[in-house]
Amino acid sequence: MCGIVGCFAQKGCYEKLYSALTRLEYRGYDSAGIATLSEGGAFSVRKKRGGVAAIAGAPLIGCAGIGHTRWATHGVPSDVNAHPHLCGKFALVHNGVVENDAALRAELSAQGERFLSQTDSELIVHLIARAYAGDFFAAVSAACARIEGSYAVAVLCADHPDTIVCARRGCPLVAGAGGGALYVCSDIPALCGSAAYICPAEEGEFVVIRAGEIGFFRADGTPVPGKVFARVRGAARPRAVVAKTRMEAEIAEVPAALAGTLASLQEADLSACRAPFRAARRVLSVGCGTAYHATLAFCGLLASQGVPALCRPASEAADLAAGEGELLVAVSQSGETADTLAAARAARARGAFLLAVTNVEQSSLAALADAALFLRAGPEVAVAATKSYNCQLLCLYFVAARLLASRGAPQVWEQSLAALPALARRAFGSFSAVEQLAAAWQGARGMYFLGRGQDAVTAREGALKVKEIAYIFAEGLPAGELKHGPLALVEKGFPVALVCTARALVRKCAAAAAEVAARGGQVALFSQYAEALAIPAAFHIRLPAAPEPLMPALAAIPLQHLACRLALLRGHDPDRPRNLAKSVTVE
Ligand code: AGP
Repeated sequence: MCGIVGCFAQKGCYEKLYSALTRLEYRGYDSAGIATLSEGGAFSVRKKRGGVAAIAGAPLIGCAGIGHTRWATHGVPSDVNAHPHLCGKFALVHNGVVENDAALRAELSAQGERFLSQTDSELIVHLIARAYAGDFFAAVSAACARIEGSYAVAVLCADHPDTIVCARRGCPLVAGAGGGALYVCSDIPALCGSAAYICPAEEGEFVVIRAGEIGFFRADGTPVPGKVFARVRGAARPRAVVAKTRMEAEIAEVPAALAGTLASLQEADLSACRAPFRAARRVLSVGCGTAYHATLAFCGLLASQGVPALCRPASEAADLAAGEGELLVAVSQSGETADTLAAARAARARGAFLLAVTNVEQSSLAALADAALFLRAGPEVAVAATKSYNCQLLCLYFVAARLLASRGAPQVWEQSLAALPALARRAFGSFSAVEQLAAAWQGARGMYFLGRGQDAVTAREGALKVKEIAYIFAEGLPAGELKHGPLALVEKGFPVALVCTARALVRKCAAAAAEVAARGGQVALFSQYAEALAIPAAFHIRLPAAPEPLMPALAAIPLQHLACRLALLRGHDPDRPRNLAKSVTVE
Protein backbone atom coordinates (compact mmCIF):
# COMPACT_ATOMS: atom_id res chain seq x y z
CA MET A 1 0.00 0.00 0.00
CA CYS A 2 1.63 3.27 -1.08
CA GLY A 3 0.76 6.93 -1.03
CA ILE A 4 0.47 9.12 -4.11
CA VAL A 5 -0.01 12.85 -4.46
CA GLY A 6 -0.28 15.27 -7.39
CA CYS A 7 -0.20 19.06 -7.19
CA PHE A 8 -0.57 21.99 -9.53
CA ALA A 9 0.49 25.30 -7.96
CA GLN A 10 1.96 28.45 -9.43
CA LYS A 11 4.16 28.72 -6.33
CA GLY A 12 5.76 26.13 -4.05
CA CYS A 13 4.67 23.02 -5.93
CA TYR A 14 7.64 20.97 -4.70
CA GLU A 15 7.20 22.09 -1.10
CA LYS A 16 3.47 21.29 -1.21
CA LEU A 17 4.19 17.82 -2.58
CA TYR A 18 6.88 17.20 0.03
CA SER A 19 4.60 18.33 2.84
CA ALA A 20 1.80 16.03 1.68
CA LEU A 21 4.25 13.12 1.42
CA THR A 22 5.30 13.61 5.05
CA ARG A 23 1.64 13.05 5.96
CA LEU A 24 1.37 10.08 3.60
CA GLU A 25 4.49 8.40 4.95
CA TYR A 26 2.52 6.10 7.20
CA ARG A 27 1.25 4.40 4.06
CA GLY A 28 4.75 3.29 3.17
CA TYR A 29 8.30 4.34 3.84
CA ASP A 30 10.50 2.00 1.80
CA SER A 31 11.27 4.81 -0.66
CA ALA A 32 9.97 8.20 -1.76
CA GLY A 33 10.13 10.38 -4.83
CA ILE A 34 8.90 13.55 -6.54
CA ALA A 35 8.85 14.60 -10.19
CA THR A 36 8.01 18.13 -11.31
CA LEU A 37 7.40 19.45 -14.82
CA SER A 38 8.51 22.89 -15.96
CA GLU A 39 6.46 25.06 -18.32
CA GLY A 40 8.95 24.15 -21.01
CA GLY A 41 8.15 20.46 -20.57
CA ALA A 42 11.33 19.48 -18.71
CA PHE A 43 11.13 16.92 -15.87
CA SER A 44 13.04 17.24 -12.61
CA VAL A 45 13.10 14.05 -10.54
CA ARG A 46 14.36 13.22 -7.07
CA LYS A 47 13.71 9.71 -5.74
CA LYS A 48 15.47 7.68 -3.08
CA ARG A 49 15.26 4.57 -0.97
CA GLY A 50 14.18 5.39 2.60
CA GLY A 51 11.64 7.74 4.10
CA VAL A 52 10.47 11.05 2.73
CA ALA A 53 13.35 12.84 4.45
CA ALA A 54 15.65 11.13 1.96
CA ILE A 55 14.33 13.46 -0.79
CA ALA A 56 14.53 16.65 1.21
CA GLY A 57 16.47 19.34 -0.60
CA ALA A 58 16.25 22.35 -2.85
CA PRO A 59 12.84 22.65 -4.53
CA LEU A 60 12.56 21.21 -8.03
CA ILE A 61 11.37 23.50 -10.84
CA GLY A 62 7.83 23.29 -12.11
CA CYS A 63 4.17 24.07 -11.32
CA ALA A 64 2.92 20.53 -11.90
CA GLY A 65 4.27 17.65 -9.89
CA ILE A 66 3.64 14.14 -8.55
CA GLY A 67 4.97 12.40 -5.45
CA HIS A 68 5.03 8.91 -3.94
CA THR A 69 5.81 7.04 -0.74
CA ARG A 70 6.35 3.33 -1.32
CA TRP A 71 5.49 0.12 0.49
CA ALA A 72 7.29 -2.41 -1.70
CA THR A 73 5.24 -5.15 -3.30
CA HIS A 74 7.08 -5.87 -6.59
CA GLY A 75 10.81 -5.12 -6.40
CA VAL A 76 12.95 -4.45 -3.36
CA PRO A 77 13.17 -1.00 -1.78
CA SER A 78 15.81 0.83 -3.86
CA ASP A 79 16.44 4.13 -5.66
CA VAL A 80 15.64 2.61 -9.04
CA ASN A 81 12.41 0.97 -7.82
CA ALA A 82 11.26 4.20 -6.20
CA HIS A 83 8.49 6.11 -7.95
CA PRO A 84 8.01 8.24 -10.04
CA HIS A 85 8.72 6.04 -13.04
CA LEU A 86 9.47 7.75 -16.35
CA CYS A 87 9.15 6.68 -19.97
CA GLY A 88 9.46 9.02 -22.94
CA LYS A 89 7.30 12.08 -22.34
CA PHE A 90 5.65 10.66 -19.22
CA ALA A 91 6.16 10.38 -15.46
CA LEU A 92 3.90 8.27 -13.22
CA VAL A 93 3.24 7.38 -9.58
CA HIS A 94 1.10 4.36 -8.70
CA ASN A 95 -0.59 2.82 -5.69
CA GLY A 96 -1.97 -0.69 -6.21
CA VAL A 97 -0.98 -4.00 -7.78
CA VAL A 98 -0.80 -4.92 -11.48
CA GLU A 99 -1.88 -8.56 -11.34
CA ASN A 100 -1.16 -9.24 -15.03
CA ASP A 101 2.33 -7.80 -14.77
CA ALA A 102 4.08 -10.87 -16.18
CA ALA A 103 2.00 -10.90 -19.36
CA LEU A 104 2.35 -7.16 -19.84
CA ARG A 105 6.10 -7.26 -19.25
CA ALA A 106 6.48 -10.02 -21.84
CA GLU A 107 4.32 -8.16 -24.37
CA LEU A 108 6.12 -4.86 -23.89
CA SER A 109 9.56 -6.47 -23.92
CA ALA A 110 8.69 -8.17 -27.20
CA GLN A 111 7.79 -4.73 -28.55
CA GLY A 112 11.25 -3.50 -27.64
CA GLU A 113 10.50 -1.79 -24.35
CA ARG A 114 13.31 -1.87 -21.78
CA PHE A 115 12.71 -1.47 -18.04
CA LEU A 116 14.90 0.14 -15.44
CA SER A 117 13.07 -1.23 -12.36
CA GLN A 118 11.67 -4.53 -11.13
CA THR A 119 8.30 -2.91 -10.35
CA ASP A 120 4.89 -3.64 -11.84
CA SER A 121 4.16 0.10 -11.78
CA GLU A 122 6.78 0.91 -14.43
CA LEU A 123 4.79 -1.19 -16.93
CA ILE A 124 1.96 1.34 -16.75
CA VAL A 125 4.04 4.34 -17.85
CA HIS A 126 5.36 2.30 -20.79
CA LEU A 127 1.77 1.40 -21.76
CA ILE A 128 0.86 5.09 -21.66
CA ALA A 129 3.87 6.10 -23.76
CA ARG A 130 3.03 3.49 -26.37
CA ALA A 131 -0.64 4.49 -26.47
CA TYR A 132 0.11 8.21 -26.83
CA ALA A 133 -0.72 9.86 -30.14
CA GLY A 134 -1.15 13.39 -28.83
CA ASP A 135 -4.22 12.85 -26.60
CA PHE A 136 -2.86 12.65 -23.03
CA PHE A 137 -6.15 11.56 -21.42
CA ALA A 138 -6.84 8.91 -24.05
CA ALA A 139 -3.37 7.42 -23.59
CA VAL A 140 -3.83 7.08 -19.82
CA SER A 141 -7.33 5.65 -20.27
CA ALA A 142 -6.11 3.10 -22.80
CA ALA A 143 -3.28 2.02 -20.52
CA CYS A 144 -5.60 1.68 -17.52
CA ALA A 145 -7.89 -0.53 -19.56
CA ARG A 146 -5.00 -3.00 -19.96
CA ILE A 147 -4.41 -3.35 -16.23
CA GLU A 148 -5.85 -6.26 -14.26
CA GLY A 149 -5.68 -5.47 -10.56
CA SER A 150 -5.85 -2.20 -8.69
CA TYR A 151 -4.49 1.27 -9.25
CA ALA A 152 -4.52 4.86 -8.29
CA VAL A 153 -2.20 6.71 -10.68
CA ALA A 154 -1.13 10.31 -11.25
CA VAL A 155 0.62 11.05 -14.53
CA LEU A 156 2.53 13.98 -16.05
CA CYS A 157 3.18 14.54 -19.78
CA ALA A 158 5.92 16.80 -21.14
CA ASP A 159 3.60 18.02 -23.91
CA HIS A 160 1.04 19.24 -21.34
CA PRO A 161 2.89 20.95 -18.47
CA ASP A 162 -0.35 22.39 -17.05
CA THR A 163 -2.06 19.01 -16.75
CA ILE A 164 -2.09 16.03 -14.38
CA VAL A 165 -4.19 13.01 -15.39
CA CYS A 166 -5.19 10.61 -12.60
CA ALA A 167 -7.30 7.48 -12.36
CA ARG A 168 -8.46 5.00 -9.69
CA ARG A 169 -9.71 1.46 -9.53
CA GLY A 170 -9.63 -0.39 -6.23
CA CYS A 171 -7.44 2.19 -4.52
CA PRO A 172 -8.58 5.48 -3.03
CA LEU A 173 -8.06 8.85 -4.72
CA VAL A 174 -9.33 12.22 -3.64
CA ALA A 175 -9.15 15.64 -5.31
CA GLY A 176 -8.50 18.75 -3.26
CA ALA A 177 -8.20 22.50 -3.59
CA GLY A 178 -6.91 25.20 -1.34
CA GLY A 179 -4.04 27.54 -0.61
CA GLY A 180 -3.55 28.35 -4.29
CA ALA A 181 -3.08 24.72 -5.24
CA LEU A 182 -5.02 21.85 -6.78
CA TYR A 183 -4.34 18.32 -5.51
CA VAL A 184 -4.99 14.66 -5.97
CA CYS A 185 -4.03 12.36 -3.12
CA SER A 186 -4.42 8.85 -1.74
CA ASP A 187 -6.31 9.99 1.30
CA ILE A 188 -7.91 12.94 2.99
CA PRO A 189 -5.83 13.23 6.19
CA ALA A 190 -2.74 13.91 4.05
CA LEU A 191 -4.52 16.96 2.58
CA CYS A 192 -5.61 18.30 5.95
CA GLY A 193 -3.90 21.62 6.48
CA SER A 194 -3.37 22.21 2.74
CA ALA A 195 -6.67 21.60 0.94
CA ALA A 196 -9.77 23.37 2.23
CA TYR A 197 -12.11 21.46 -0.06
CA ILE A 198 -12.05 17.87 -1.20
CA CYS A 199 -14.02 15.56 -3.47
CA PRO A 200 -13.32 11.78 -3.57
CA ALA A 201 -13.12 10.12 -6.96
CA GLU A 202 -15.43 7.12 -7.26
CA GLU A 203 -14.40 3.71 -8.54
CA GLY A 204 -13.31 3.84 -12.18
CA GLU A 205 -13.31 7.63 -12.40
CA PHE A 206 -10.54 9.81 -13.85
CA VAL A 207 -9.48 13.14 -12.36
CA VAL A 208 -7.86 15.76 -14.58
CA ILE A 209 -6.18 18.88 -13.26
CA ARG A 210 -5.79 21.23 -16.20
CA ALA A 211 -5.12 24.96 -16.41
CA GLY A 212 -6.19 25.60 -12.86
CA GLU A 213 -9.35 23.45 -12.92
CA ILE A 214 -10.22 19.98 -11.66
CA GLY A 215 -12.57 17.73 -13.64
CA PHE A 216 -13.94 14.23 -13.11
CA PHE A 217 -14.35 11.99 -16.14
CA ARG A 218 -15.31 8.49 -17.15
CA ALA A 219 -12.88 6.29 -19.07
CA ASP A 220 -14.36 7.46 -22.38
CA GLY A 221 -13.66 11.08 -21.49
CA THR A 222 -17.25 12.09 -20.76
CA PRO A 223 -17.53 14.34 -17.71
CA VAL A 224 -19.03 12.90 -14.52
CA PRO A 225 -21.92 15.14 -13.50
CA GLY A 226 -22.79 16.19 -9.97
CA LYS A 227 -19.38 16.09 -8.32
CA VAL A 228 -19.38 18.49 -5.38
CA PHE A 229 -16.39 19.63 -3.36
CA ALA A 230 -16.98 19.60 0.38
CA ARG A 231 -15.12 21.49 3.04
CA VAL A 232 -12.58 19.19 4.71
CA ARG A 233 -14.28 17.74 7.83
CA GLY A 234 -12.86 15.90 10.76
CA ALA A 235 -9.54 17.69 10.53
CA ALA A 236 -8.35 17.54 14.09
CA ARG A 237 -6.90 20.56 15.75
CA PRO A 238 -3.26 19.63 16.44
CA ARG A 239 -3.00 18.78 20.13
CA ALA A 240 -0.03 19.98 22.06
CA VAL A 241 0.90 16.52 23.24
CA VAL A 242 4.64 16.24 23.42
CA ALA A 243 5.95 12.76 22.78
CA LYS A 244 8.96 11.20 21.14
CA THR A 245 6.96 9.09 18.68
CA ARG A 246 3.60 9.44 16.95
CA MET A 247 2.45 6.24 18.61
CA GLU A 248 3.19 7.58 22.08
CA ALA A 249 1.45 10.83 21.16
CA GLU A 250 -1.61 8.95 19.92
CA ILE A 251 -1.78 6.86 23.10
CA ALA A 252 -1.57 10.09 25.09
CA GLU A 253 -4.43 11.42 22.95
CA VAL A 254 -6.80 8.58 23.89
CA PRO A 255 -8.76 10.61 26.46
CA ALA A 256 -9.20 13.53 24.06
CA ALA A 257 -10.02 11.13 21.22
CA LEU A 258 -12.69 9.45 23.34
CA ALA A 259 -14.12 12.89 24.07
CA GLY A 260 -14.16 13.57 20.32
CA THR A 261 -16.05 10.33 19.75
CA LEU A 262 -18.58 11.18 22.45
CA ALA A 263 -19.20 14.54 20.79
CA SER A 264 -19.56 12.82 17.44
CA LEU A 265 -22.07 10.34 18.85
CA GLN A 266 -24.12 13.15 20.34
CA GLU A 267 -24.39 14.74 16.88
CA ALA A 268 -24.94 11.46 15.04
CA ASP A 269 -28.22 11.00 13.15
CA LEU A 270 -29.22 7.39 13.77
CA SER A 271 -32.77 7.73 12.47
CA ALA A 272 -31.97 5.41 9.56
CA CYS A 273 -30.74 2.80 12.05
CA ARG A 274 -33.92 2.69 14.10
CA ALA A 275 -35.54 -0.18 12.18
CA PRO A 276 -32.46 -2.40 11.84
CA PHE A 277 -31.54 -1.83 15.49
CA ARG A 278 -35.01 -2.91 16.55
CA ALA A 279 -35.68 -5.71 14.13
CA ALA A 280 -32.51 -7.04 12.43
CA ARG A 281 -32.66 -10.85 12.46
CA ARG A 282 -28.91 -10.98 13.01
CA VAL A 283 -26.32 -8.39 13.88
CA LEU A 284 -23.11 -9.02 11.96
CA SER A 285 -19.82 -7.20 12.14
CA VAL A 286 -16.57 -7.22 10.15
CA GLY A 287 -13.18 -5.58 10.42
CA CYS A 288 -9.49 -6.37 10.02
CA GLY A 289 -6.72 -6.59 12.59
CA THR A 290 -7.43 -4.29 15.48
CA ALA A 291 -10.78 -3.33 14.01
CA TYR A 292 -11.69 -7.03 13.97
CA HIS A 293 -10.88 -7.20 17.66
CA ALA A 294 -13.30 -4.33 18.22
CA THR A 295 -16.01 -6.35 16.44
CA LEU A 296 -15.25 -9.32 18.71
CA ALA A 297 -15.89 -7.17 21.78
CA PHE A 298 -19.06 -5.75 20.16
CA CYS A 299 -20.58 -9.11 19.26
CA GLY A 300 -19.59 -10.63 22.59
CA LEU A 301 -21.44 -7.83 24.36
CA LEU A 302 -24.59 -8.29 22.25
CA ALA A 303 -24.51 -12.08 22.50
CA SER A 304 -24.22 -11.80 26.30
CA GLN A 305 -27.57 -9.98 26.16
CA GLY A 306 -29.20 -12.63 23.96
CA VAL A 307 -28.94 -10.79 20.63
CA PRO A 308 -27.78 -13.09 17.76
CA ALA A 309 -24.49 -11.47 16.82
CA LEU A 310 -21.62 -12.79 14.69
CA CYS A 311 -18.35 -11.21 13.62
CA ARG A 312 -15.57 -12.23 11.26
CA PRO A 313 -12.27 -10.92 10.00
CA ALA A 314 -13.44 -9.11 6.85
CA SER A 315 -11.32 -11.40 4.67
CA GLU A 316 -13.24 -14.41 6.02
CA ALA A 317 -16.74 -12.94 6.00
CA ALA A 318 -18.19 -14.77 2.98
CA ASP A 319 -19.90 -17.40 5.15
CA LEU A 320 -21.78 -14.71 7.07
CA ALA A 321 -23.80 -13.99 3.91
CA ALA A 322 -25.27 -10.88 5.50
CA GLY A 323 -28.47 -10.02 3.64
CA GLU A 324 -31.96 -8.56 3.67
CA GLY A 325 -33.30 -7.87 7.15
CA GLU A 326 -29.86 -8.00 8.74
CA LEU A 327 -27.49 -5.36 10.08
CA LEU A 328 -23.81 -5.35 9.15
CA VAL A 329 -21.52 -3.10 11.18
CA ALA A 330 -18.25 -2.56 9.26
CA VAL A 331 -15.41 -1.16 11.36
CA SER A 332 -12.38 0.50 9.79
CA GLN A 333 -10.21 3.36 11.06
CA SER A 334 -9.15 4.37 7.56
CA GLY A 335 -12.38 3.43 5.82
CA GLU A 336 -10.19 2.20 2.93
CA THR A 337 -9.22 -1.35 3.92
CA ALA A 338 -9.87 -3.44 0.83
CA ASP A 339 -11.07 -6.57 2.65
CA THR A 340 -13.52 -4.58 4.75
CA LEU A 341 -14.81 -2.67 1.73
CA ALA A 342 -15.27 -5.93 -0.18
CA ALA A 343 -17.27 -7.49 2.67
CA ALA A 344 -19.34 -4.33 3.06
CA ARG A 345 -20.10 -4.12 -0.68
CA ALA A 346 -21.15 -7.78 -0.78
CA ALA A 347 -23.49 -7.35 2.20
CA ARG A 348 -24.96 -4.16 0.74
CA ALA A 349 -25.54 -5.93 -2.58
CA ARG A 350 -27.50 -8.63 -0.76
CA GLY A 351 -29.68 -6.03 0.94
CA ALA A 352 -28.15 -5.85 4.40
CA PHE A 353 -28.26 -2.53 6.23
CA LEU A 354 -24.68 -1.27 6.41
CA LEU A 355 -23.52 0.82 9.36
CA ALA A 356 -19.94 2.12 9.04
CA VAL A 357 -17.77 2.93 12.05
CA THR A 358 -14.74 4.87 10.79
CA ASN A 359 -12.34 7.69 11.59
CA VAL A 360 -12.29 9.19 8.09
CA GLU A 361 -15.52 10.96 7.31
CA GLN A 362 -15.17 11.08 3.55
CA SER A 363 -13.77 7.58 3.20
CA SER A 364 -14.92 4.93 0.75
CA LEU A 365 -16.58 2.97 3.56
CA ALA A 366 -18.54 6.01 4.78
CA ALA A 367 -19.70 6.70 1.22
CA LEU A 368 -20.84 3.09 0.82
CA ALA A 369 -22.82 2.87 4.07
CA ASP A 370 -26.51 3.42 4.79
CA ALA A 371 -25.38 5.19 7.97
CA ALA A 372 -22.04 6.02 9.51
CA LEU A 373 -20.63 6.79 12.94
CA PHE A 374 -17.40 8.80 12.96
CA LEU A 375 -14.73 8.37 15.60
CA ARG A 376 -13.51 11.99 15.27
CA ALA A 377 -10.41 10.74 17.08
CA GLY A 378 -8.16 12.99 15.02
CA PRO A 379 -5.79 11.59 12.40
CA GLU A 380 -4.12 8.37 13.49
CA VAL A 381 -0.91 8.06 11.50
CA ALA A 382 1.19 5.66 13.56
CA VAL A 383 0.85 2.30 11.85
CA ALA A 384 -0.20 0.52 15.04
CA ALA A 385 -3.80 1.32 15.87
CA THR A 386 -4.19 2.78 19.36
CA LYS A 387 -6.66 5.60 20.01
CA SER A 388 -8.83 4.40 17.12
CA TYR A 389 -9.33 1.07 18.94
CA ASN A 390 -10.47 2.71 22.16
CA CYS A 391 -12.81 4.95 20.14
CA GLN A 392 -14.13 2.07 18.01
CA LEU A 393 -15.04 0.30 21.24
CA LEU A 394 -16.80 3.40 22.54
CA CYS A 395 -18.76 3.69 19.27
CA LEU A 396 -19.71 0.02 19.40
CA TYR A 397 -20.75 0.20 23.05
CA PHE A 398 -23.02 3.07 22.02
CA VAL A 399 -24.48 1.05 19.13
CA ALA A 400 -25.01 -1.96 21.41
CA ALA A 401 -26.72 0.18 24.03
CA ARG A 402 -29.02 1.86 21.50
CA LEU A 403 -29.83 -1.46 19.84
CA LEU A 404 -30.56 -3.21 23.13
CA ALA A 405 -32.65 -0.28 24.35
CA SER A 406 -34.71 -0.43 21.13
CA ARG A 407 -35.38 -4.09 21.97
CA GLY A 408 -36.56 -3.29 25.48
CA ALA A 409 -33.25 -4.02 27.25
CA PRO A 410 -31.75 -0.66 28.25
CA GLN A 411 -28.24 -1.00 29.66
CA VAL A 412 -27.34 0.68 32.93
CA TRP A 413 -23.73 1.10 31.80
CA GLU A 414 -24.76 3.38 28.92
CA GLN A 415 -24.71 6.28 31.35
CA SER A 416 -21.04 5.57 32.06
CA LEU A 417 -19.87 6.07 28.48
CA ALA A 418 -19.40 9.77 29.21
CA ALA A 419 -16.90 8.91 31.94
CA LEU A 420 -14.54 7.04 29.64
CA PRO A 421 -12.27 10.01 28.76
CA ALA A 422 -11.55 10.70 32.44
CA LEU A 423 -11.12 7.01 33.20
CA ALA A 424 -8.72 6.69 30.26
CA ARG A 425 -6.66 9.49 31.74
CA ARG A 426 -6.52 7.54 34.98
CA ALA A 427 -5.14 4.55 33.08
CA PHE A 428 -1.95 6.54 32.49
CA GLY A 429 -1.30 6.06 36.22
CA SER A 430 -0.26 2.50 35.46
CA PHE A 431 2.48 3.54 33.03
CA SER A 432 5.42 3.52 35.40
CA ALA A 433 4.55 -0.07 36.40
CA VAL A 434 4.17 -0.90 32.72
CA GLU A 435 7.61 0.53 32.00
CA GLN A 436 9.13 -1.71 34.68
CA LEU A 437 7.35 -4.65 33.08
CA ALA A 438 8.67 -3.70 29.64
CA ALA A 439 12.21 -3.51 31.01
CA ALA A 440 11.83 -7.01 32.47
CA TRP A 441 10.35 -8.47 29.29
CA GLN A 442 12.41 -6.64 26.64
CA GLY A 443 14.54 -9.73 25.92
CA ALA A 444 11.59 -12.10 25.59
CA ARG A 445 11.44 -14.33 22.54
CA GLY A 446 7.75 -15.04 22.98
CA MET A 447 4.88 -14.26 25.30
CA TYR A 448 1.24 -15.06 26.02
CA PHE A 449 -1.61 -12.67 26.63
CA LEU A 450 -4.48 -14.34 28.46
CA GLY A 451 -8.00 -13.40 29.46
CA ARG A 452 -11.43 -14.89 29.92
CA GLY A 453 -14.63 -13.70 28.27
CA GLN A 454 -14.22 -10.17 26.92
CA ASP A 455 -10.69 -10.07 28.36
CA ALA A 456 -9.69 -12.70 25.81
CA VAL A 457 -10.35 -10.04 23.15
CA THR A 458 -8.16 -7.54 24.98
CA ALA A 459 -5.51 -10.25 25.19
CA ARG A 460 -5.60 -10.67 21.41
CA GLU A 461 -5.22 -6.95 20.87
CA GLY A 462 -2.31 -6.80 23.32
CA ALA A 463 -0.58 -9.62 21.50
CA LEU A 464 -1.11 -7.99 18.10
CA LYS A 465 0.48 -4.74 19.27
CA VAL A 466 3.58 -6.52 20.57
CA LYS A 467 3.98 -8.54 17.38
CA GLU A 468 3.60 -5.63 15.03
CA ILE A 469 5.96 -3.12 16.63
CA ALA A 470 8.25 -4.99 19.06
CA TYR A 471 8.66 -7.99 16.73
CA ILE A 472 8.21 -10.48 19.60
CA PHE A 473 6.08 -13.52 18.88
CA ALA A 474 2.98 -13.13 21.05
CA GLU A 475 -0.26 -15.05 21.22
CA GLY A 476 -3.50 -13.85 22.72
CA LEU A 477 -5.78 -16.64 23.88
CA PRO A 478 -8.57 -17.52 26.29
CA ALA A 479 -7.03 -18.27 29.71
CA GLY A 480 -9.07 -21.44 29.94
CA GLU A 481 -7.32 -22.77 26.86
CA LEU A 482 -3.87 -22.60 28.46
CA LYS A 483 -4.06 -26.11 29.95
CA HIS A 484 -5.19 -27.59 26.63
CA GLY A 485 -1.81 -27.23 24.97
CA PRO A 486 -0.26 -23.73 25.11
CA LEU A 487 1.00 -24.41 28.67
CA ALA A 488 3.64 -26.65 27.09
CA LEU A 489 5.62 -23.55 26.11
CA VAL A 490 5.65 -22.06 29.60
CA GLU A 491 9.02 -22.46 31.19
CA LYS A 492 11.13 -20.50 33.65
CA GLY A 493 10.76 -16.79 33.04
CA PHE A 494 8.19 -17.15 30.23
CA PRO A 495 6.18 -13.90 30.17
CA VAL A 496 2.41 -14.15 30.54
CA ALA A 497 0.16 -11.08 30.66
CA LEU A 498 -3.16 -11.92 32.32
CA VAL A 499 -6.11 -9.55 31.95
CA CYS A 500 -8.85 -9.91 34.55
CA THR A 501 -11.61 -7.28 34.59
CA ALA A 502 -14.60 -9.47 35.53
CA ARG A 503 -15.02 -10.02 39.25
CA ALA A 504 -16.83 -13.30 38.65
CA LEU A 505 -13.77 -14.64 36.81
CA VAL A 506 -11.09 -13.72 39.35
CA ARG A 507 -10.89 -17.27 40.73
CA LYS A 508 -10.53 -18.78 37.30
CA CYS A 509 -7.86 -16.25 36.41
CA ALA A 510 -6.09 -17.13 39.66
CA ALA A 511 -6.06 -20.75 38.52
CA ALA A 512 -4.46 -19.78 35.20
CA ALA A 513 -1.86 -17.69 37.02
CA ALA A 514 -1.07 -20.64 39.30
CA GLU A 515 -0.60 -22.95 36.28
CA VAL A 516 1.90 -20.48 34.83
CA ALA A 517 3.73 -19.85 38.10
CA ALA A 518 4.01 -23.59 38.79
CA ARG A 519 6.11 -23.86 35.58
CA GLY A 520 8.26 -20.87 36.46
CA GLY A 521 6.43 -18.52 34.13
CA GLN A 522 6.28 -14.81 34.98
CA VAL A 523 2.75 -13.39 35.31
CA ALA A 524 1.83 -9.73 34.91
CA LEU A 525 -1.73 -9.18 36.07
CA PHE A 526 -3.88 -6.36 34.66
CA SER A 527 -6.98 -5.74 36.76
CA GLN A 528 -9.03 -3.09 38.55
CA TYR A 529 -9.98 -5.41 41.41
CA ALA A 530 -7.97 -5.55 44.64
CA GLU A 531 -8.90 -9.22 45.04
CA ALA A 532 -7.50 -9.94 41.60
CA LEU A 533 -4.36 -8.09 42.48
CA ALA A 534 -3.97 -10.62 45.33
CA ILE A 535 -3.35 -13.26 42.67
CA PRO A 536 0.34 -14.23 42.91
CA ALA A 537 2.08 -12.41 40.07
CA ALA A 538 5.49 -10.85 39.43
CA PHE A 539 3.81 -7.62 38.27
CA HIS A 540 0.47 -5.98 39.08
CA ILE A 541 -0.87 -3.35 36.70
CA ARG A 542 -3.78 -1.49 38.28
CA LEU A 543 -6.58 -0.50 35.90
CA PRO A 544 -9.14 2.24 36.57
CA ALA A 545 -12.55 0.86 37.55
CA ALA A 546 -15.51 1.19 35.17
CA PRO A 547 -18.63 -0.89 34.56
CA GLU A 548 -17.24 -4.24 33.45
CA PRO A 549 -18.69 -4.18 29.88
CA LEU A 550 -16.67 -1.00 29.21
CA MET A 551 -13.37 -2.25 30.62
CA PRO A 552 -11.82 -3.39 27.28
CA ALA A 553 -11.65 0.28 26.22
CA LEU A 554 -9.49 0.99 29.28
CA ALA A 555 -7.53 -2.25 29.66
CA ALA A 556 -6.11 -1.75 26.15
CA ILE A 557 -4.28 1.44 27.16
CA PRO A 558 -1.50 -0.08 29.33
CA LEU A 559 -1.11 -2.84 26.77
CA GLN A 560 -0.63 -0.24 24.03
CA HIS A 561 2.00 1.45 26.20
CA LEU A 562 3.68 -1.90 26.94
CA ALA A 563 4.06 -2.67 23.23
CA CYS A 564 5.41 0.81 22.51
CA ARG A 565 7.97 0.61 25.32
CA LEU A 566 9.09 -2.86 24.27
CA ALA A 567 9.61 -1.58 20.72
CA LEU A 568 11.67 1.39 21.90
CA LEU A 569 13.74 -0.74 24.32
CA ARG A 570 14.46 -3.15 21.49
CA GLY A 571 15.61 -0.30 19.24
CA HIS A 572 12.67 -0.28 16.86
CA ASP A 573 10.72 2.70 15.53
CA PRO A 574 7.11 2.11 16.61
CA ASP A 575 5.85 4.59 14.01
CA ARG A 576 7.32 2.73 11.04
CA PRO A 577 7.20 -0.99 11.76
CA ARG A 578 8.71 -3.30 9.17
CA ASN A 579 6.49 -5.05 6.62
CA LEU A 580 3.33 -3.19 7.67
CA ALA A 581 1.12 -0.42 6.31
CA LYS A 582 -1.42 1.75 8.04
CA SER A 583 -4.22 0.92 5.69
CA VAL A 584 -4.12 -2.18 3.50
CA THR A 585 -5.90 -1.10 0.34
CA VAL A 586 -5.17 -4.34 -1.53
CA GLU A 587 -6.97 -7.64 -0.85
C1 AGP B 1 -3.42 -2.63 13.95
O1 AGP B 1 -2.46 -2.08 14.85
C2 AGP B 1 -2.99 -2.54 12.51
N1 AGP B 1 -2.55 -1.26 12.15
C3 AGP B 1 -3.98 -3.18 11.58
O2 AGP B 1 -4.33 -4.44 12.09
C4 AGP B 1 -5.29 -2.39 11.32
O3 AGP B 1 -6.08 -2.40 12.47
C5 AGP B 1 -6.03 -3.10 10.17
O4 AGP B 1 -5.21 -3.08 9.03
C6 AGP B 1 -7.38 -2.44 9.84
O5 AGP B 1 -7.18 -1.12 9.43
P1 AGP B 1 -8.50 -0.19 9.34
O6 AGP B 1 -9.03 -0.06 10.72
O7 AGP B 1 -8.02 1.11 8.76
O8 AGP B 1 -9.49 -0.89 8.44
